[in-house]
This record gives sequence, structure tokens and C-alpha cells, in this order.
Amino acid sequence: VADAAQATQRSSLEAVPPAASVLFGAALEPARRYAELLATVGAERGLIGPAEAVRIWSRHLLNSAAVAELFAPGSRVVDVGSGAGLPGVPIALCRPDLAIDLVEPLARRVTFLTEAVAELGLADRVRVVRGRAEDDAVRSAVGDAPWVTARAVAPLDRLVRWCLPLLAPGGRLALVKGASAAAELARHRSAVRRAGGIDPEVVHCGQGVVEPDVPVVVLRSAGGSGPASRRPAGRGGEEVR
Ligand SMILES: C[S@@+](CC[C@H](N)C(=O)[O-])C[C@H]1O[C@@H](n2cnc3c(N)ncnc32)[C@H](O)[C@@H]1O
Repeated sequence: VADAAQATQRSSLEAVPPAASVLFGAALEPARRYAELLATVGAERGLIGPAEAVRIWSRHLLNSAAVAELFAPGSRVVDVGSGAGLPGVPIALCRPDLAIDLVEPLARRVTFLTEAVAELGLADRVRVVRGRAEDDAVRSAVGDAPWVTARAVAPLDRLVRWCLPLLAPGGRLALVKGASAAAELARHRSAVRRAGGIDPEVVHCGQGVVEPDVPVVVLRSAGGSGPASRRPAGRGGEEVR
């Protein structure tokens, strides 16, 4: 029965869009395998909705991979609340120079992440860390990071409280927020400042490659020039004050 369900899910998988070759390049095959894993094993275990197969690329893989343009070569990136691996796994696939830590508290999701990382051949530079971002053990395991990212985890005010303490001085948060990014930033600007975040802006990733582009709230941890204090490499940075 499980095999039949998987075959049905596989047959409803969204066709690979042209933007996938642009973003994943040589990693298109492992990206295709990851899409299939999400839509079959991931859906079976309730990690993504059964209806997601038909938009697995447009809504999940491309949206995640587009964010990879932000990170400086050779950086370490912590993905908080990775769930079934978004955005961390697509970022790892399209940027072989990066080391990625996937932070996730829920056992079922950690099991899937561990299996997916092994199957996709990423285990040498992608770690799965079980716990919540605010746990002391997680802070010691992944802290002092130049970059922390998160997608669909919590409202901006809560996210900055959880994620800013994981950064090295001058490190940056890249919070994937979609169409609500500018409004959320306007609403929580003072909470960002109180938590120790400075220079928040909305950066539009994937411009000219994915449609619509991916708005990301980028901000810096106060306290020194740090390892990642340069402006993000993404195009279309837009100050929202
Ligand atoms: C809605 S899911 C999003 C998963 C994934 N980022 C995505 O875009 O599909 C939110 C995830 O955040 C995790 N999460 C919630 N609070 C967290 C915390 N304080 N620290 C780390 N992860 C957390 C949940 O377990 C869940 O897997």
C-alpha cells in the first residue's frame, strides 16, 4: 500500500522548471531526488501536506535555493526550524562551498533530515542538530555563526529573540518571509532593535530567475564588524523604514 501511495505521489510531482537548472546547476539530480523524497516519504510521514507534490519546486525548492545567493563563499549557515530541510537542504545542494547546520526539535523531522542528508551525499558538510534554537545545548553546538536563516518558523519578533544569540558579532540573519516581509518588518522594527538587531532591510532574492522573487528580511547582529559584516550579495536590496 505504501508503495502504491508513493507511486501516486511520484506521478503527481511538479515537472522540473527551467529555473531549477539555473539554481542547482550540477546538483540538479540530487535536487530532483530530494523533491521526490519530500513528496513521497515526507508526505507519508506527515512532514509536508499531500497537496504539496504539485508545487514542490515552485513553492519549496526554488524558493529556498534562491536565498543561497546571500551567503559569502565558504560560510557556515544555520537553518533554524528546518522541518523537512527547507531552506537548508536546497541551499546545501546549490552551494557546495557552504557548511550547513539544520536545527530542528521534532524527532520525526530529525529522522527524515538525517536520512535525507545521508542519501543526498551531504553528510560531510551538513549537520543535523536536534533541539530548539533557544536551548543552551543548541547554542553551544551551532553558535557564533556568520549566518542564520529560517523559513516559516515564527513571527519576526520571536525569531530575532531566538536567532540573534546564535550569531557571531556582526553576523547576519536571513529570514525568509514572503510577501509579508516589509509589513512584518515595519510592525516589529522596535522588537528587532531591542533584541540587538541592526540595519534591517528587505532583500529580494532570485530576481530574474524565480517568479515571484523571494523577499527576505536581512539584519545584522550589533557588536563589531564580525565575519559577515559586508552587505549581502543579493540584488535588489530595499531599505524599509
Ligand atoms: C512550519 S515548520 C517550517 C519548516 C521549514 N522551515 C519549511 O519552510 O518548510 C516550522 C518548524 O520550526 C520548528 N520550530 C518551532 N520552534 C522552534 C524553535 N524554537 N527552534 C527551532 N525550531 C523550531 C518546528 O518544529 C517546525 O519543524
